[in-house]
Amino acid sequence: MTEHRDQQLRQLISLLKDADFHSGQKLAEELSVSRAYIWKLMQQLEELGLEFESVTRKGYRLIKPLQLIDAENLSKSMAQRGLSDWQCEVLLLTDSTNEQLKGEGFRHKKLLAAEYQSAGRGRRGRQWVSPLASNLYWSTGWQTQMPVQQLGGLSLVVGLAIINALGNLGIKGVQLKWPNDIRYQGKKLGGILIELSGDVAGALQVIIGVGLNMQMGATAAKQIEQQWMNLNEIGPEISRQQLLTEATIELSRALELFELQGFEAFRDAWQEVDECYGQKVTILQQNQELKGIGAGVDATGALLLQTGKGIMPIYAGEVSLRFRH
Ligand code: BTN
Repeated sequence: MTEHRDQQLRQLISLLKDADFHSGQKLAEELSVSRAYIWKLMQQLEELGLEFESVTRKGYRLIKPLQLIDAENLSKSMAQRGLSDWQCEVLLLTDSTNEQLKGEGFRHKKLLAAEYQSAGRGRRGRQWVSPLASNLYWSTGWQTQMPVQQLGGLSLVVGLAIINALGNLGIKGVQLKWPNDIRYQGKKLGGILIELSGDVAGALQVIIGVGLNMQMGATAAKQIEQQWMNLNEIGPEISRQQLLTEATIELSRALELFELQGFEAFRDAWQEVDECYGQKVTILQQNQELKGIGAGVDATGALLLQTGKGIMPIYAGEVSLRFRH
């Protein structure tokens, strides 16, 4: 998609954001294009997952009001909270924010969010459903000298930072399913995808991708194969902008502490929100199934699994964990 078209779509969304009717004629005048062209742009927005109705003689109306994330405001609020050295960027459309932050795009303390991802990625090669302006999709760039072997607990630390951010905004009761799922009453609210690049012997470039379901419509959600829910079902109502700011502030604090003290500093906090603790679980690892009961995590963030043969540490990576009932 060209930058110009991107700009037009952004402008169109801004005009429609109140969810009142807007006539095709008025929209065409605002964008200095034809009504037929507005119709074409609306078709594109629909393909990207934006839900609206179109009524003869009234025009177009969004099903829900929406607010796009504002990068400038984001930078301002973060600076007010002491994070003036962060760079914030918000794209309207991208393939995957993790992908965009790789290589040339990488910068330490960079927050890159997008309103839509055409190829959002989940763990273990899964797709991450990312309809337009409904949820939060963002990646954080963090450069570290920590040895790669000590990064096992990182996705847990990120999860805890998100829980803190939600708690600060009044959303309580959210839990974490080892190693990277953010859940509420057994349903997935979001997930974390961490990717590493750089020199294993020197500085590592860490890309921390987070996706959080906030107000996803039913049409887009049809593609999701597991139990999921939106944050706006929990309450109190919070904006995507507020949550993104709060999450980045908490994440920045957590990453600084993690670098200084490792996962040990987070172990107690993990216990408070550990959904697997005392639960029967099955671990799937390279076609092998391991059954046991969740017994917390060790000082590196490895899952402790109580099995018939004693307690076994399970390291994150290409493993998947399922609950047994
Ligand atoms: C999972 O639970 O499987 C992890 C989901 C991670 C999704 C986020 S959305 C922003 C970032 N960009 C991606 O392509 N993936 C992550």
